[in-house]
Amino acid sequence: MKKHSLLFSLIVLAFACHDEKKEPITPKYVEESHSYARPNTAAITHLDLDIEANFDTKTISGSATYAIDNNVATSIVLDSKFLNITKVQADGKDTTFTLGDFDAQLGRPLIIDIAPNTNSITVFYNTTDQTEALQWLSPQQTADKTHPFLFTQGQAILTRSWIPIQDSPQIRITYNATVKVPKALMAVMSAENPKEKTADGIYTFKMKQPISPYLMALAVGDIQYKAVSHRTGVYAEPSMVDKAQAEFSDMEKMVVAAENLYGDYDWDQFDVIVLPPSFPFGGMENPRLTFATPTVIAGDKSLTSLIAHELAHSWSGNLVTNATWNDFWLNEGFTVYFEIRIMEALYGKDRANMIALIGRQDLEEEVEGFKNEPEMTKLKLDLTNKNPDDGMNSIAYDKGYLFLRTLEETVGREKFDAFLKNYFKTNAFSTVTTEGFVDYLNTNLLEPNAIEFNVDEWIYQPGIPDNQAVIVSDKFENARRTLQSFLDQKTVDVSKTQNWTTQEWVHFIRNFPESITVEDMKRLDDAFHFTNSSNSHIAMVWFEQAINHDYHDHHVDQKIEDFLIRVGRRWYVSTLYKAFKRHDKVDEALEIYHKARGNYHSVTSNTIDEMLGYN
Ligand code: BES
Ligand code: ZN
Repeated sequence: MKKHSLLFSLIVLAFACHDEKKEPITPKYVEESHSYARPNTAAITHLDLDIEANFDTKTISGSATYAIDNNVATSIVLDSKFLNITKVQADGKDTTFTLGDFDAQLGRPLIIDIAPNTNSITVFYNTTDQTEALQWLSPQQTADKTHPFLFTQGQAILTRSWIPIQDSPQIRITYNATVKVPKALMAVMSAENPKEKTADGIYTFKMKQPISPYLMALAVGDIQYKAVSHRTGVYAEPSMVDKAQAEFSDMEKMVVAAENLYGDYDWDQFDVIVLPPSFPFGGMENPRLTFATPTVIAGDKSLTSLIAHELAHSWSGNLVTNATWNDFWLNEGFTVYFEIRIMEALYGKDRANMIALIGRQDLEEEVEGFKNEPEMTKLKLDLTNKNPDDGMNSIAYDKGYLFLRTLEETVGREKFDAFLKNYFKTNAFSTVTTEGFVDYLNTNLLEPNAIEFNVDEWIYQPGIPDNQAVIVSDKFENARRTLQSFLDQKTVDVSKTQNWTTQEWVHFIRNFPESITVEDMKRLDDAFHFTNSSNSHIAMVWFEQAINHDYHDHHVDQKIEDFLIRVGRRWYVSTLYKAFKRHDKVDEALEIYHKARGNYHSVTSNTIDEMLGYN
């Protein structure tokens, strides 16, 4: 380095340090109820995974070798669930281990005997037919119907069912993996990925940034890659890959917008894999490779805020991670806020506010649904002895968003953005608790600017505080007026809805009055063909209204059944089953569920089993 540039660097560094009185919110591994691991005693730091995916037996088998940070311990505890452990080694030599009692939520602790100076452990294992993270799909369940498919879902506590691991979000590991799959298929992971199939079906992966275990991910199928930009692209089955590339053509712009807001994208590559329709989520932010539902492909980019959302997790979630699942709102609330800011940067305030208002209505419904359990409407939760899934609802997402938006409007965007940018930088590659965030917020934003804000009420109290930001959309107000005039006049004037966006349609449909009649609905359906909509969000809210209001025209019942059998996205299907249940139509729901259940991933079927009392 030349002398003057060294001097320059020192000056920059001095300024940077001066600017940064902020200490990272470092975790010392806080107590947590969803993992058996005791990382303060011995923690994993790196994983070498060597596995084979066998599509005949539907099992993954192989070994997981960990480098460990050993605090002079004589045992290390991993999480496991429905795994068959065949052998364990410490520093390459066989060692003894015990599997503790099975818990339906947590699985079993795998307690491995080690020496105080042991540096590495290896676990030989295979998955079983109960493994919850994996969904093995027959060719029939894929888009192209020619090859089988496999994908994993780790969040929240399912990684332990396909890899024995310390399955706590506070853990961070780098990893290398070797994965053997049938030659006709390609394997991809939350890591540096191949762009073509190999001749021998063996793939090697490297994830050099440390990630939390819930972000370990693998997908195997007959997939192809198409680039969107030098650092973004799509994987999908051959029949889907061009559609995916076109739908997500704004991905590079999204990454640029995100970087402009809150700092560099730290993961090098941002790709999306479009999975078969049984994928239980809209999207999952696996680092470097977001997993996405095909229902996001509407043909007109109208649902791509989902991509902005998963991209935003590259900061909120993957870079700065919730310390425990009680702090889940730190992942999702920040991500919804960031998602909507990205959408605003690309498409303007109108679009952003419509997305925000759809979430606002979700929040209203969620709070109403929890009217007998108000403590579930707090941002900071206590999920001890509960499945983390119980906290994964609109409260974390949309109340979290509303809190941050209200804060932004109170302190002003400029200060808020500077604060968030520093928050991500200061806490990069570490975890944050809700309490740690509150401290950080007080110290770095509220106190220096002498701003009063009811942070504690927002975070630790149920319901929605009175100072909430008021979000308005002229387009939505117009949609409501239009609906009202159609209903008043008993005729539909299609010229009034020219150029409406998907968001306006969703708002229009969701806000039917209680008193709407089947004749009204038929008139709307005749004019707008909602029953046949190819937009999954519009179809979903329309189907919900059909169930709510006993509407049966245009073969809508058949369409609902087909949708529920084909699509496994939990948010969509649970909305529909919930509507059946609300209207005392559990028998109807069960009749469909009986045919659909085999197509669902365990996270969806577990939710619906409970909702419908299926066993
Ligand atoms: N990380 C979530 C999905 C998730 C949450 C998986 C909890 C397991 C447990 C993902 O980022 C997400 O929020 N997906 C949403 C997208 C939407 C908010 C745009 C989904 O799947 O609908
Ligand atoms: Zn999310």
